[in-house]
Amino acid sequence: MEFRVSKALLPIVCILLVILSHALPISAARHRRNMLANDLGATPPMGWNSWNHFFCDIDEEMVRATADAMVSTGLANLGYKYINIDDCWAEKERDAKGNLVPKKSTFPSGIKALADYVHSKGLKLGIYTDAGTYTCSGTMPGALGYEEQDAKTFAEWGIDYLKYDNCYNQGINPTDRYPVMTRALRNAGRPIFFSLCEWGDMHPALWGYQVGNSWRTTSDIQDTWDSMMSKAFENEVYADYARPGGWNDPDMLEVGNGGMTKNEYIVHFSLWAISKAPLLIGCDVRDMSNDTKEILFNKEVIDVNQDKLGVQAKRVRQEGDLQVWAGPLSGYRVALLIINGLNSASSMGAKWEDIGLPPNTPVIARDLWEHKTLETQYVGGLSVDLESHSCKMFVLTPVLS
Ligand code: GAL
Repeated sequence: MEFRVSKALLPIVCILLVILSHALPISAARHRRNMLANDLGATPPMGWNSWNHFFCDIDEEMVRATADAMVSTGLANLGYKYINIDDCWAEKERDAKGNLVPKKSTFPSGIKALADYVHSKGLKLGIYTDAGTYTCSGTMPGALGYEEQDAKTFAEWGIDYLKYDNCYNQGINPTDRYPVMTRALRNAGRPIFFSLCEWGDMHPALWGYQVGNSWRTTSDIQDTWDSMMSKAFENEVYADYARPGGWNDPDMLEVGNGGMTKNEYIVHFSLWAISKAPLLIGCDVRDMSNDTKEILFNKEVIDVNQDKLGVQAKRVRQEGDLQVWAGPLSGYRVALLIINGLNSASSMGAKWEDIGLPPNTPVIARDLWEHKTLETQYVGGLSVDLESHSCKMFVLTPVLS
């Protein structure tokens, strides 16, 4: 059928089209432009990964039991949906057809059966491989040269998330190796969240949004205060590049693994949340202390991470080891995190002018770790007393006149 517009009507149609295109909400337009074709990662991914606690000591039984625990503890209900198997799940040799083979001694039922189990619990299954000839443990094949075949295998197994590492990379640039897997995943016909793990080598924040849904900005985290803080700082440099569909990744959570104090883990979780980092639990969720639960289950902090605006916070003020981090949230609200990195107690203030609030605006402050709304309305700023290596986290809501 042919559709003709008479010449006389043409200017009116043009004007109407311009008006309509401007009527599209700006956020929706921005959202669409930023998303990869797989349409995943509208908010940072949440789940669990085996590496930080178990390293290569993994098997199908513990993955199943982890999925069970994610549901029975209530973590799944809070949004922690991905169960991600890291390195060491496959045999070192491919089969005669070049297919990956799940390790017979530890994953005898195969990955498809595991995916079916995880899906039956309402969760999603993630897996790991490498953009090189071997994975970083050296115990299983990487996908370099096998991208199409491996992506198809993952899709057939029902995989929902792929972490793609950077070892044995033959000296080829990540910008040449990683997009090959992006295309292979697209061709495989199943939406698979694509997590780039090239450790920040070639500033992936600058190109990762066209290739994956998240990109590691740092080398591996260790379960110590110094390591955790340095990952947060290295990651912060790229804050402007995070957006719905693509996130900076300062590595997985160490909360619950025992190397930091409770207050330090609270700082860790608060920093990851406000930085819009993936919230991938790295401890044994079958056996969590009450302190660990208190941290990982803090819905108010999770809500900051999952806020639909998707803007990563910045370190807006630093005085010695005292820091103020802040970033906008939907509904004109602001997330605020004040950290004392000193070895002694101290007080520290946040000024509205540093965090994008008009100085004279009265503000209601919700303390996300005390779970209470402060009685005072604050004008111009807010100051807190902090123990060594601890923080306070707030959502600030301006009182609009
Ligand atoms: C590293 C990666 C870690 C973990 C490990 C497995 O390169 O950064 O998160 O996946 O390999 O060998």
